[in-house]
Amino acid sequence: MCGIVGIISDETKTADIIDSLKKLEYRGYDSSGIAFVKDGRIEVYKSVGKIEALKNSIKNLLDEKVEVGIAHTRWATHGQPNDINAHPHTDCTGKIAIVHNGIIENFRELRGMLEALGHKFKSDTDTEVIAHLIEEEYSGDLFEAVMKAIRKLDGAYAIGVIHSDHPDMIVAARKGSPLVIGIGEDTTILASDVTPIIRYTKDVIFLEDGDVALLKKGKVEIYRSSGEKVERRVQHINWDESAAEKGGYDHFMIKEIMEEPMVISSAMTGRVRSGRVDIPEIKEIDFSKIRRINLVACGTSYHAALFFKYFVEFHTDLDVLVEVSSEFRYRKPHVDKDTLTIAISQSGETADTLESIRLAKRLGSRIIAITNVVGSTITRESDISIMMNSGPEIGVAATKTYVAQLTVLLLLGLQIIEQRGFWAGRHEKIFDTLLRLPEVFSSILDSSDRIREIAEDFKDYNHFMYIGRGYGYPTALEGALKLKEISYIHAEGYPAGELKHGPIALLDENFPVFAIAPQDSLYQKMKSNIMECRARNAKIIALTTSENRDILQVADIILEVPKVPEELYPLVMSPVIQLFAYHVAVLKRHDPDKPRNLAKSVTVE
Ligand code: F6R
Repeated sequence: MCGIVGIISDETKTADIIDSLKKLEYRGYDSSGIAFVKDGRIEVYKSVGKIEALKNSIKNLLDEKVEVGIAHTRWATHGQPNDINAHPHTDCTGKIAIVHNGIIENFRELRGMLEALGHKFKSDTDTEVIAHLIEEEYSGDLFEAVMKAIRKLDGAYAIGVIHSDHPDMIVAARKGSPLVIGIGEDTTILASDVTPIIRYTKDVIFLEDGDVALLKKGKVEIYRSSGEKVERRVQHINWDESAAEKGGYDHFMIKEIMEEPMVISSAMTGRVRSGRVDIPEIKEIDFSKIRRINLVACGTSYHAALFFKYFVEFHTDLDVLVEVSSEFRYRKPHVDKDTLTIAISQSGETADTLESIRLAKRLGSRIIAITNVVGSTITRESDISIMMNSGPEIGVAATKTYVAQLTVLLLLGLQIIEQRGFWAGRHEKIFDTLLRLPEVFSSILDSSDRIREIAEDFKDYNHFMYIGRGYGYPTALEGALKLKEISYIHAEGYPAGELKHGPIALLDENFPVFAIAPQDSLYQKMKSNIMECRARNAKIIALTTSENRDILQVADIILEVPKVPEELYPLVMSPVIQLFAYHVAVLKRHDPDKPRNLAKSVTVE
């Protein structure tokens, strides 16, 4: 996720701005840049790679005092990671510089309009349109120009803007992406989160969506984008830097789970237009001409792929093949030019998935990558990439990226359903509920404390069986994987109907069962399977739909999620299985962010 820093002070050197930017390194980035006003001119320096490279590029200027400066770490979304696409971006006059975090959905339309007015663009980014828009609106008042410009933006943004004629101010605005302001004695600082601010002050203001702030030395004024002035509470924080990086949480994993409502919104941003799914990246693919879809993925990404198979096969006439990449690459798969291959990988670097792409390509298949890392090897070797836009995931176990994968796959599935002529009222309902999911997720995440209490009661078991049917099966697999990889408890994920073909022999009072049992079309079958487990004295945790009293007959512990169309249960149940695994791991005193023997990106076979 991009990081923003802006500082106004009499005492600031460029080195201080760079040091503040370094505090945002933990968020992940592919390039960085800085802009400041010197001798009445804006100077901009950018560098791909580490902030250290940026620092080296301005070695001679590090001791230079600057009144105002902005800096940025970029996590690419539009355009490759390179020096030109790195922020800050400037307008045609070079007097305005801007840093931005978020995605501008209508940037193509705006860019066309601005080019028609004679503006010259240098980068491929959505951000640069904001600089030119401000230039277009500017007639001596920077604050006014920013106000007018942001009213034309659709999408999400947190921005910091400076102008060479106004070296005493930064104008900042937020909608959908966070921004925090710290007001120290002689320094006012703007940042994406509190980490760079702590060094200057612990009194901060968190901007709200729709706020526009005018930062000057030692003071700030905040307005709504409608123009009305507002007061925001100054909050005193007691976090040290390590707590601040984690947003005050104990671990990145829980912080990232708590980000899931935002992750769903970002995955949908720019992909819904006029009440329909419209994924711009795949506009040239005619899904009515495709004969089959082939998915390759590993681990958690494989579970997302499995969900997609169930979803698309159920709602269309397409065959969907799914295979773990490490098997696919050594088989003789029936993939050809009429087969579309979709590779799912949060890191974009998984060796087996990459080799599977190469094999599918040799067989004539077109490749779509669904990944979270722009410029990763998998994006470079695929024909089309659909980005998950979740921001970097620091916890090794995939959590928010799984949620983003499911969201993107649901959107893709809905688009395929429509193009193949199967769209019906049910899909309208799935689509409408998907749009509301960020709110639904927030309510589910509120149950974290209760899930911890349950985790406390179950943490000392040595084995767990996760079971599910239909859409509940990928969730059972993912629940078992999360638990085993971070708590080191043996956990199996099984289709509930398979239990009696062997694994039920394992069950007894020391082998609890985590049943994925929403009130969906297979609920009664699932209930019978739970009864079979209970008959072997296994304790049952049932993850079901709210107000399902019927499950009380068979379960010892009940966890609930709101009722949604059954195709959405894998998504809404994800935070519950993740939180359960997280709390068990922490209660067992394991570090959930760095599970033993595992790596965030698996670049070897
Ligand atoms: C589990 C987990 C792994 C990854 C797998 C594939 O929490 O993170 O199972 O899902 O290694 O990784 P990507 O998605 O990067 O290809």
